[in-house]
Amino acid sequence: SATEPLRVMISGAPASGKGTQCEMIAQKFGVVHISTGDILRAEVSAGTEIGNKAKEYMNSGRLVPDEIVTAMVTTRLSLKDVKEKGWLLDGFPRSSAQAESLEKRSIRPDVYVMLEVPDDVLIDRCVGRRLDPLTGKIYHVKNFPPENEEIKDRLVTRPDDTEEKVKSRLEIYKRNVESILSTYSDVMVEINGNRAKEVVFEEINSLLLRLQKDKEEKSKSD
Ligand code: AP5
Repeated sequence: SATEPLRVMISGAPASGKGTQCEMIAQKFGVVHISTGDILRAEVSAGTEIGNKAKEYMNSGRLVPDEIVTAMVTTRLSLKDVKEKGWLLDGFPRSSAQAESLEKRSIRPDVYVMLEVPDDVLIDRCVGRRLDPLTGKIYHVKNFPPENEEIKDRLVTRPDDTEEKVKSRLEIYKRNVESILSTYSDVMVEINGNRAKEVVFEEINSLLLRLQKDKEEKSKSD
């Protein structure tokens, strides 16, 4: 039978490098990157009903209510491209209720990647982060400066990236992550995210290549 596409969850504290790694994973493996943060930010800038509801929560670094985010993700996961290409969930699930809603629908990952980065590094990464609103690309003033002046001039800072808000996002993350780990402990892989982004990607890449190979083997024997 046909090989099942990859299903990947990526988690980690704010600025642990989820978005940065997802750019590289999606490009290499062709999976559909579903970032709840990106979708919510797009809803906010488009001024939709969801965006207007989510805005206050996001700007203060709190979690958006489960019902809103869960509906968004399950709708996206039901689209045809996901069935063909597989998925890469970035920033979801973030609470036990969100994890439960996936379990209830028998939506499970092949692997749950957990990026580990020390707190002081996370704060520096958030405060220095800049986004290109045109391409969605993620930069950092010191670590990954923009390629040219034209890009540099249009870069924006996220409203939730101040030192104070990052600290509170980190607290909220730590409070919530514990409650979902047990759901994914059987497929969890911890990765040291405090290394050059190419080095981190190399490790994720080998992991996903191995999983992909296992799936191919399995489809041959089915
Ligand atoms: P979301 O957008 O998911 O934010 P987050 O989890 O806080 O994660 P970040 O986007 O801050 O960081 P990242 O890990 O992607 O790091 P990045 O690659 O950018 O969510 C935002 C908000 O939306 C939430 O607070 C909440 O309100 C709401 N929300 C989202 N999902 C929700 C959910 N499921 N339920 C409820 N509410 C939800 O990298 C960070 C910086 O570091 C960049 O500048 C980058 O260039 C740099 N960098 C990356 N990798 C490296 C490296 N290896 N070395 C050096 N620098 C690096």
